[in-house]
Amino acid sequence: MNQAVAEFAPDMLEDTRVADKARFDAIVAQLGVPYAKGESYAIYNGDSFDLLKQLPKSSIDLTFTSPPYNIGKAYENIMPTEAYVNWCAEWIELVRAATDEKGALMLNIGYVAIEGIAKNIPISYLIWNRIKLFLQQEIVWNYGAGVAAKKFLSPRNEKLLWYVKNEKEYTFNLDDIRDPDVAYPNQKKKGKLRCNTIGKNPSDVWQIAKVTSGEGRSSKERTPHPAQFPLDLCERVIKGFAPASGIVLDPFLGSGSTVDACSRWGRFSIGFEIKEDYCEIAAERAEARQRQIEINI
Ligand SMILES: C[S@@+](CC[C@H](N)C(=O)[O-])C[C@H]1O[C@@H](n2cnc3c(N)ncnc32)[C@H](O)[C@@H]1O
Repeated sequence: MNQAVAEFAPDMLEDTRVADKARFDAIVAQLGVPYAKGESYAIYNGDSFDLLKQLPKSSIDLTFTSPPYNIGKAYENIMPTEAYVNWCAEWIELVRAATDEKGALMLNIGYVAIEGIAKNIPISYLIWNRIKLFLQQEIVWNYGAGVAAKKFLSPRNEKLLWYVKNEKEYTFNLDDIRDPDVAYPNQKKKGKLRCNTIGKNPSDVWQIAKVTSGEGRSSKERTPHPAQFPLDLCERVIKGFAPASGIVLDPFLGSGSTVDACSRWGRFSIGFEIKEDYCEIAAERAEARQRQIEINI
């Protein structure tokens, strides 16, 4: 078995995994015929609004997604800001309904220009009071590559908003995402090691490189999708915030990064994507990952 999956599927978790597989199969049965499907993933080609409405209530453990930012990317039709905010509030409400009582939403969101008001306003400022989930934390995703600037600072961050349904009970697998890069690992206090031997808390600022393109600097995982998540980012989210064999949803799947990370780390995943050519990229990635896992078994 693939080492990553093996670490997350020891015998004692087998019963949970069987139950989670049954939950996954029930969701897939409810959603109808997927564009692509494997043992642990299903990809649907369609509008996430239609598909989210079909999800059974409280069936999803974690939603991890990056919606369109309304900034004119190839896959977007620009809307007036108010319409965009309403659109976000509506799909997030559908996600909330589909989220398990101990579940969460990890929302990657950036900035948008508003004429006469802001060059780049954090989208989180616009939607904060429209979301009926508990905001547990804002994570800063900091990266090196990005837009060059002369009249303002080069933008080098986006946010991940970690929302939970129940502020007292939620998944947080800290040991699975500890940072082993500890400055003084052997430092002791009263004879006891001061640091956790696995590593330190990775904090709420994550330095993870963006997926880059261009000759000589293109990321290994690069696909033709213009806004692809880095796999390192997906893996940290899936390992840290989804239960061991839980069900993860990405309603704006794009190139399929969330599905790929879930397969690697033993989670079940459901993805929605409106553009068929992106579904094809996601399906190819999912199949390649499946082949890799089978080779390693
Ligand atoms: C920011 S990208 C997501 C990229 C993705 N995280 C990845 O790693 O490739 C947003 C995606 O949402 C898709 N999309 C836009 N509107 C949609 C809708 N109503 N339903 C489903 N997908 C939609 C776009 O085609 C685009 O691929």
